[in-house]
Amino acid sequence: MRGLLALAGVLAGCGVETATGPRAEQCGTCHQAQYAQWQGSRHGQSTSSPVFTALLPRVERAWGATARARCVACHQPGHGGDETIGCVSCHQAIGNRGDANGALVVKLGAPIASRHEPTGHAPHEVATRGFFTSASLCGTCHEVRGPGHLDEPTLTEYRATTQATDDSCLGCHFDEGHRFGGLEPSWGAPPEEATSATARARVLLEKALRLEVVLVNGAWTVRLTNRGAAHGVPTGMTSLRDVWVDVKVGAREFPRVMELGARLEDEAGVVALITDATRVTSRSLAAQASREWTVPASPGEKIEATLRARAVREEALVALGLDGAEVPLLEVRAR
Ligand code: HEC
Ligand code: HEC
Ligand code: HEC
Ligand code: HEC
Ligand code: HEC
Repeated sequence: MRGLLALAGVLAGCGVETATGPRAEQCGTCHQAQYAQWQGSRHGQSTSSPVFTALLPRVERAWGATARARCVACHQPGHGGDETIGCVSCHQAIGNRGDANGALVVKLGAPIASRHEPTGHAPHEVATRGFFTSASLCGTCHEVRGPGHLDEPTLTEYRATTQATDDSCLGCHFDEGHRFGGLEPSWGAPPEEATSATARARVLLEKALRLEVVLVNGAWTVRLTNRGAAHGVPTGMTSLRDVWVDVKVGAREFPRVMELGARLEDEAGVVALITDATRVTSRSLAAQASREWTVPASPGEKIEATLRARAVREEALVALGLDGAEVPLLEVRAR
């Protein structure tokens, strides 16, 4: 009971504020459903991916200790004393110092932001706050400019689209509440949870990209369109992502006729990791954009096109010493 009262004090801003404000598990004692979704989400696991952990020493070697500190500061902002992105990072964010690079302003003790007017039933203050439901909140972290060659301009991509809606990112990313969801696997989750996360990722990919085999000026053509994401596909950590199209014509195979993950190079050629790259070329498919490949097919030959995606490309896993790690393969056939 005492813990609860102290927490209520903190939440109501009664001056009992400490550096370790309400942690997710404290909110979770009452909001169990949201807590469970968050725990299984990338926000709830923002420091535990083996890829993230394995990259950190390489970041330090390539770009210095300050660069490494920047990775950690965004993945583990520590707003409420959480080791990951906790509830208060969003629910007590009152604004930012520019919407990029994780520059959120979080005020422990501020009323908890909600989309709805307060009902008066909460043991803590609740308030609506425009910033809370804006793309700017998400974009403060989902717009990364450095360190090094690491750039993730998701907010810029979103703002460049005509699909950008008043409902910000939430219209597409809150269908399943606090799971949010994307390509990234749920590392280390129990098999059943991992399987359903993979199924959700596949549905999302199919929602984002349409793959068709169509006639263009009399020639069979494979066409890939970003019809469902209000940003590039992939977006974010594109240096890790592997999204590609394989085509079969009769018995002949044409692997990787399109590749969407970023291309990384140094002076000598293609490299596996962002920390080794001196040049990064984005190959993401912008919102509403299409890419086409003319199929060298003779009349009557069967054409089969398949979209495939993995959150972490094989070369990167090998370079990080993580070969053998389970990264699910997502597949969508042309229709
Ligand atoms: C002691 C229990 C308790 C704790 C701890 C608690 N809450 Fe609440 N919260 C409630 C209750 C009860 C409501 C009112 C629900 C209603 O009006 O139907 C509420 C309302 C809310 C709302 C508004 C819900 C809506 O539908 O608009 C949000 C958002 C919220 N809480 C988030 C949090 C967060 C984040 C934390 C931790 C920082 C937290 N709560 C801690 C009990 C709690
Ligand atoms: C990445 C930002 C973010 C994080 C982290 C986050 N929330 Fe939310 N939460 C939101 C947004 C945005 C909404 C409103 C979405 C809407 O209604 O469209 C919301 C809605 C809610 C609601 C209202 C009921 C509902 O489910 O819609 C509650 C309660 C809540 N959050 C509690 C929590 C708790 C508890 C945590 C931590 C375990 C948490 N949130 C973490 C962004 C976040
Ligand atoms: C300003 C915030 C910010 C900074 C700084 C940042 N990241 Fe991220 N990172 C993100 C966001 C947002 C995502 C989610 C985008 C996605 O999944 O594609 C992400 C995703 C990732 C992922 C994929 C998910 C995972 O955990 O495996 C890795 C790996 C990663 N970041 C590593 C790094 C490294 C290494 C650095 C430092 C060089 C860094 N990040 C700096 C915000 C940041
Ligand atoms: C405090 C910084 C922060 C805020 C605020 C934030 N995110 Fe994130 N988000 C991250 C980081 C970091 C990751 C990657 C975590 C990981 O996988 O290691 C991430 C992951 C994600 C993913 C999963 C990506 C994947 O590849 O699976 C989605 C989707 C997402 N965020 C959407 C949102 C939306 C929508 C909002 C606004 C409601 C939001 N985020 C607010 C930092 C943030
Ligand atoms: C019109 C719907 C829509 C809107 C609006 C939208 N997204 Fe997405 N987003 C998607 C779809 C569909 C995917 C799945 C494609 C994928 O995984 O690349 C996705 C994937 C993602 C991913 C995972 C990317 C990856 O390649 O791993 C992140 C991170 C993300 N969105 C963040 C955001 C943020 C932040 C916003 C707001 C600035 C936003 N999204 C707005 C539909 C949307």
